[in-house]
This record gives sequence, structure tokens and C-alpha cells, in this order.
Amino acid sequence: MKSNLIQHLFTTRKLSKQDIENLFDLAKKIENNPKDYSEVCKGRILGNLFFEPSTRTRLSFESAMLRLGGKILGFTSSRDSSATKGESIADTIRMVNHYADIAVVRHYMEGVGEIAKQVSTIPIISGGTGTQEHPTQALLDLYTLKKEFDNIDDLNIGFLGDLKYGRTIPSLLYSLIKYDNIKINLISPKTLRIRGNVENRLNNAKSDYLVTENLHEVLETLDALYVTRIQKERFLDPIDYERLKNSYKITPETLQDVKDHFIILHPLPRVDEIHYDVDKLKYSRYFEQAKNGVWIRMALILKLLGVE
Ligand code: CP
Repeated sequence: MKSNLIQHLFTTRKLSKQDIENLFDLAKKIENNPKDYSEVCKGRILGNLFFEPSTRTRLSFESAMLRLGGKILGFTSSRDSSATKGESIADTIRMVNHYADIAVVRHYMEGVGEIAKQVSTIPIISGGTGTQEHPTQALLDLYTLKKEFDNIDDLNIGFLGDLKYGRTIPSLLYSLIKYDNIKINLISPKTLRIRGNVENRLNNAKSDYLVTENLHEVLETLDALYVTRIQKERFLDPIDYERLKNSYKITPETLQDVKDHFIILHPLPRVDEIHYDVDKLKYSRYFEQAKNGVWIRMALILKLLGVE
């Protein structure tokens, strides 16, 4: 990443397959020998600017920096920052440039990446931007696939749920289409279909994808199913949310005819879309997936700081 002069990370579109694989190599080295990296960021500070709630992204970035020997600072909601007094995101980023060496920003507004590019001299990483993208989630999703299947090429993957508002989906699709012979199955209610701009990118990349409302049309063919929550907070009309919230629910019965090596991923948090009884089945990988976020975020911090 640093080697390609990408200073900030707001989209997976700009990462090459080689960038991604290099990141995975480093994440694997860290995962295998975390002690070797326990002081490499001594004296460095990570700023966490979270304008929207988070458990995994914020805490795993904190864990990542602490495990690298660095320190952390930040806020956990816009309420705790001077955004409540009307301060712009540009000025907030300018300020954190004085206080930290690298920062993570989660924000509801699209276009934060452009602002970061204009005003920041320290690397800024997206911790999730509006309904647009969540690049570090996609990288840890891919890393989980890589660990599971050794090779991401040739996989047949289903995406289930809220494909319109889920920001992890575009980031993961933009990464997956860099790989060879990927089959993509987009499974959602009609009103939560993937957005046109994302579908255009699939078309431009000549991706092999199918759109359906029926999970059982494809489930038996899949290597992995990426389940997402219906994103309540993005709905303008709560009645629409109520109508759609139970569109899909994965239970042990749902999975009776899946492939033996099949796995279920979910960026989490989950609400009702995966029954708790699925957690103990051999197919569930969503908790390991979240754990992989620490290794990927440690690797990313090192790449963007140029510390290897
Ligand atoms: N996957 C994810 O972004 O979770 P959080 O909202 O808890 O950070």
C-alpha cells in the first residue's frame, strides 16, 4: 500500500490483488508471531474518530495498535466531539493530524475520503463511510476466505440480506472482482438490491453474477454465504424496515443440503438473520472472522505507517 503511494484507505477499488495479497502475507506473519511485532509502533499514536457507533472496528483497531506497542486516543460518537458545536469533519481531521500519527474515521457522510486527501498529512483509514464502503471489513473478510480455502480464486459466494445499504458489500465485491473465476450470487428482497453504481462496476469488470430473491436457488452451489443484517438505521421509513426485517433467517434447517466445506460469514453485528443455534455448527466462521480483523488491522497500520 505505502509502496503504491496510497496514503489513505477509503476504498478497496484502488487496491490491486498484489496489494491485498501482500497485506495478507504480513497479517499471517503477525498472526503466527505476534510477539515479534509487540514494540514496532512504540511512540506512535492511533486516533479513532468514530462519528457512528461501533464495537468491532473501533475495538479491533485499538487492540491492533496496542498490540503493536503504540497508544490510542479518540472519541466514540459525534456527541463526544466538537462536531456537536458545528465543527467540520475537515477541521476535526486537521486537529487529529497534530495529535496522532495515523487515524481511523467512521462517518455517516459519503466523501470523507476526498476531504482526508485534501487536508491530512497523516494516513487516514475508513472505519466505514455512510452506505458507501467499509474497506477494512472487506480485507478481513477476504483474509478469512483465504485462510479457509487457501485460494480466493474460483470461489462461489452468496451475499444475502441488505445489499443496498450494507457498506461492507461494495468493498468486498470491489476486492473479489480482482480475483479469477469468482461467481457472485446477490440474494436480497427487490427493494434492497445492490445499488446501480456497484452493479455497474461488476458489469465493467465482466463479473459472473446472478441476482435473485431466493436463497435456495443457489445455496447448495455456494462455497461461502456472506450474510448481512437489514440496516435499520439507514431506512427513511420505519414501516419499510418492519416489512423487510425478517426477509431471511438462517437456521440449522436452512443448511441441510450445503456443501461439506461451506462456510457462513457475517460482518456482525447480527440481529435475527442467523439463529444462535447456527453458531455451534461447523459452518459458522463469523466470530473467527471478527478475530481476523485484529491481524489485518495490525498489518494495515504497519503498511500505512511504512513500518515493516
Ligand atoms: N463489522 C462492523 O463494522 O462492526 P462494528 O459496527 O461493531 O464496528
